[in-house]
Amino acid sequence: MKFLGKEIASPFVLASGILGISASSMLRAVRDGAGMVTTKSLSLTPRAGHDSPIIAEFDGGLTNSVGLTNPGIYEGLEEVEKYKRETDAPIIVSIFGRHIDDFAELAKLVNQSSADFIELNLSCPNVEDEFSRPFALDIHKVGKIVASVSRVTTIPFLTKLSPNAPNIIDIAKHAEEKGSHGATLINTLGHGMVIDIYTAKPVLKNHFGGISGPAIKPLAVKIVHDAYKRLNTPIIGTGGVTTGNDAIEMLMVGATTVGVGTAVYYRGVDVFKALDNELNAFIQQSEFTHWSELIGRVHRD
Ligand SMILES: Cc1cc2nc3c(=O)[nH]c(=O)nc-3n(C[C@H](O)[C@H](O)[C@H](O)COP(=O)(O)O)c2cc1C
Repeated sequence: MKFLGKEIASPFVLASGILGISASSMLRAVRDGAGMVTTKSLSLTPRAGHDSPIIAEFDGGLTNSVGLTNPGIYEGLEEVEKYKRETDAPIIVSIFGRHIDDFAELAKLVNQSSADFIELNLSCPNVEDEFSRPFALDIHKVGKIVASVSRVTTIPFLTKLSPNAPNIIDIAKHAEEKGSHGATLINTLGHGMVIDIYTAKPVLKNHFGGISGPAIKPLAVKIVHDAYKRLNTPIIGTGGVTTGNDAIEMLMVGATTVGVGTAVYYRGVDVFKALDNELNAFIQQSEFTHWSELIGRVHRD
């Protein structure tokens, strides 16, 4: 099965920010059954991120306020070269900027590397907005960024959007019209808070963070379902996928491939092997012969 022209061995994609940027940890995910990997989001210059604790667990998943910690695009791309020397499994380089123009500058650098795809993480606070709102909430800014990246790249790129935008489907369509080759849906929800009742304080040092994991899965499934009806480009369905059955839901509503993030915390890196086994067990007992036949099944009569 091909994804945007590249062969993938499984539908599972390591989501951005889960195993950092080191080639060795991303290769480990591939050895364990991931079809593709996404780097942690990279910026033009290194970023320290927020103080610990940066992850707080609750019954339905995690809240995180990592703060986009990363070593910067140059070091990140060195790891991409190391990764590509060892495997043909596609790698998606996630980039983010605080100014609209940062994205094209970053995309140019990724385009010159051995990376297979680029992912635009538009969910970080942007300094061009007086309220510091993420770009992903503003359809016009998303369009501008996508068009600017489209002008300077030859490798395909995906646009990762936020469920905090009530018009996320319109935004995804607009991104597609401006040149995006695919959508990654969704990034974390909220901010949410988790309180330590014994100290009567928020668990996260930063007080609140983005919500991920099983609690957001039905929302992600609905968004992918709606996006599939409007888009002509592939979707990486991401949000709360923890088991093979979750992945099957995601494929059936229209995801071409399935992002896996928080489940790596719950089940370890070998979650990819487990997900592959669970998906294949379903296929073997069904009328289907390959997972790609599940894509968009819900939309057929
Ligand atoms: C600890 C943590 C760090 C994350 N860092 C990033 C990031 O750097 N860039 C990004 O686009 N998404 C980031 N995400 C969001 C995930 O890639 C994913 O979109 C989201 O968590 C929903 O999927 P999940 O429920 O499978 O985790 C992060 C998520 C977590 C839990």
